[in-house]
Amino acid sequence: MGAPPRLTREVGIGVAGYGMMGKAHAYAYTVAPVMRTLPCRPRLRVISGRDEAKVSRAAAAYGFERWVGDWHDLVNSPDVDIVDICTPPGTHAEIAAAAAAAGKAVICEKPLAVSYAQAMDAAVSVQRAGVLNAVGFNYRRLPAVSLMKRMIDEGAVGKVRLWRATWLSDEFVDPAIPFDWRFDRTVGGSTIADLGSHLIDLALWMVGSVAEVTAQSETFVRTRPDPGGAGSRMVTVDEASSALVRFESGARGVFEMARTAVRRPCDFTIEVNGETGTLVFEYARLNELTYGEGADSPGLYGMRRIRAEHETHPYARNWWPIGQGVGYGSSFVNHLGDLLERWPAGPWEPDFKQGVAVQAVCEAIERAAAERRWVEVAEVTSP
Ligand SMILES: NC(=O)c1ccc[n+]([C@@H]2O[C@H](COP(=O)([O-])OP(=O)(O)OC[C@H]3O[C@@H](n4cnc5c(N)ncnc54)[C@H](O)[C@@H]3O)[C@@H](O)[C@H]2O)c1
Repeated sequence: MGAPPRLTREVGIGVAGYGMMGKAHAYAYTVAPVMRTLPCRPRLRVISGRDEAKVSRAAAAYGFERWVGDWHDLVNSPDVDIVDICTPPGTHAEIAAAAAAAGKAVICEKPLAVSYAQAMDAAVSVQRAGVLNAVGFNYRRLPAVSLMKRMIDEGAVGKVRLWRATWLSDEFVDPAIPFDWRFDRTVGGSTIADLGSHLIDLALWMVGSVAEVTAQSETFVRTRPDPGGAGSRMVTVDEASSALVRFESGARGVFEMARTAVRRPCDFTIEVNGETGTLVFEYARLNELTYGEGADSPGLYGMRRIRAEHETHPYARNWWPIGQGVGYGSSFVNHLGDLLERWPAGPWEPDFKQGVAVQAVCEAIERAAAERRWVEVAEVTSP
């Protein structure tokens, strides 16, 4: 009999926003110390939200010590070390700047902002304050996606020639869905930024910088019912966009992001074709990778299924025995676990600088679609 050893170093967590991402992050802070050995213990100090009934319910359910109605109070709480921003994209830069000014480390959900200029403002704030910062590109931390990156780096497909990714969702299919922040460009950003930022982050991570893009966008349902019953409101975001991409390495890419794909809940797929091999990831089978190698015997022509759960694979040792698999929530546990593992010295990755690089490509795609032409990313970054 005895008391378990106590981790003396605690890190105070403040989460802004109690919606889906507030819940996902609270879950990850709770599970990470169970699944892996960390140098510190995250303590859920405070959560903020504007609806008192909802935020107080969320605080109790997610395990926070208290809640506040105004994020300024969270940012200025002395017992908060990390401000974790889980509010709509148009609010990120302002909250990040206030958190950095208060000397807090900042974790921000993707996309970093709704424009390149706003993303730069956020990056300058954290850089000036010298605080740790990270953007919530959690899909990098899915074991199979992480394995895909490792295999590309190790030459499993040779030099990358083609990189293509799609994100198909049906969340905007029904025209009766009332207007909310996701339909408002200034708060939610474009679909290119909201869904596409994940794909662009993975592309930059796996293939390197994007040189130029061309694109098309469409909004099929142009007005939505006002949630308060006051008529209808104009939708100011694209519902579906697709882009052709030229990477600086010479590789070519295709991205498609759509919220109007009937019966496609959140189907995201990445395919990489290199000089000697092909790798495919499909989110619906998220513990697997499909791999085709040109050097295989002709008698084995085809693609093999890799179970991305072997103990030699990324993150596998932090999870269940091979064959049990992991899910969406695990990507947050892996992501926030990696950040806590490096607390307080860092470095953290992907950081705001990488969030800005993603935003530059988003903005180039938005401009290309609006102006119906090829746009160099440098037009955005050095106008
Ligand atoms: N990484 C992922 O897998 C993933 C998935 C979904 C959403 N996201 C991102 O997470 C962020 C939040 O998305 P969500 O799905 O949790 O949204 P949500 O609508 O479920 O929750 C949003 C939260 O922000 C609060 N909020 C809304 N408007 C606000 C404002 N003007 N000021 C302050 N707070 C405000 C709401 O009260 C709520 O607490 C977005 O940036 C979104 O793109 C990431």
